[in-house]
Amino acid sequence: MIKPAGRVQIAPSLLSADFAALGDAVRIAQDAGADLIHFDVMDGHFVPNITIGPPVLKSLARVARIPIDAHLMIEEPDRYVEAFAEAGAGSIIVHVEAAVHLHRTVHLIKSTGAQAGVALNPATPVGTLEEIAGDVDYVLVMTVNPGFGGQTFIPRSESKVRAVRELLRRNGSSAPIMVDGGIDSHTAPKIVAAGADILVAGNAVFGSTDPAKAIRELRAAAESAVAP
Ligand code: DX5
Ligand code: ZN
Repeated sequence: MIKPAGRVQIAPSLLSADFAALGDAVRIAQDAGADLIHFDVMDGHFVPNITIGPPVLKSLARVARIPIDAHLMIEEPDRYVEAFAEAGAGSIIVHVEAAVHLHRTVHLIKSTGAQAGVALNPATPVGTLEEIAGDVDYVLVMTVNPGFGGQTFIPRSESKVRAVRELLRRNGSSAPIMVDGGIDSHTAPKIVAAGADILVAGNAVFGSTDPAKAIRELRAAAESAVAP
């Protein structure tokens, strides 16, 4: 389960791992104290890239001792929600830009027993969350345009995270906020100070020669920004 807001959670993204050794990547991440495994699903339509799907998640769920979070960067996500839940995803994120009937999709995710997250692309206004804020378990603020690992963090994301936190508060929600894209030891303190709870990191972890050390350094950098 995704933990409540209030303490920094680290979610290494497998996108930058060696796809021939994904089981090892999961073991390294969990042994280094990661909270979640972030599993990026791309369909070549909603985003230009194509990655992995339910059979791979199912295999990794057999070795993972921490929850797997499926980030669906796909059109018509309703068609695949049950398959990802059955494969073992503990939480599933859909994009507001891709879900025409977002309320239905969020409740479909919850009906499977998985937690439901909604993601906003960088250019998508915070206000699109207004009618769904009370229903979601967490919100993902994309800090790059989705599709690829290793991109540069968009600075405007800081004010966006603040605005999402305020919108959630107004709607009586204390749901955690996840950020994804360009998160490393330099950007993490700023975005945590803005209100982010869950940090997804791909390149900063698996692009490193020592992923376990990178996870520990990212957590230390992020926690330095949390008010005592
Ligand atoms: C981007 C994916 C991310 C990606 C982040 O479209 O959703 O999860 O792995 O990668 P980094 O941390 O390298 O920006
Ligand atoms: Zn992602």
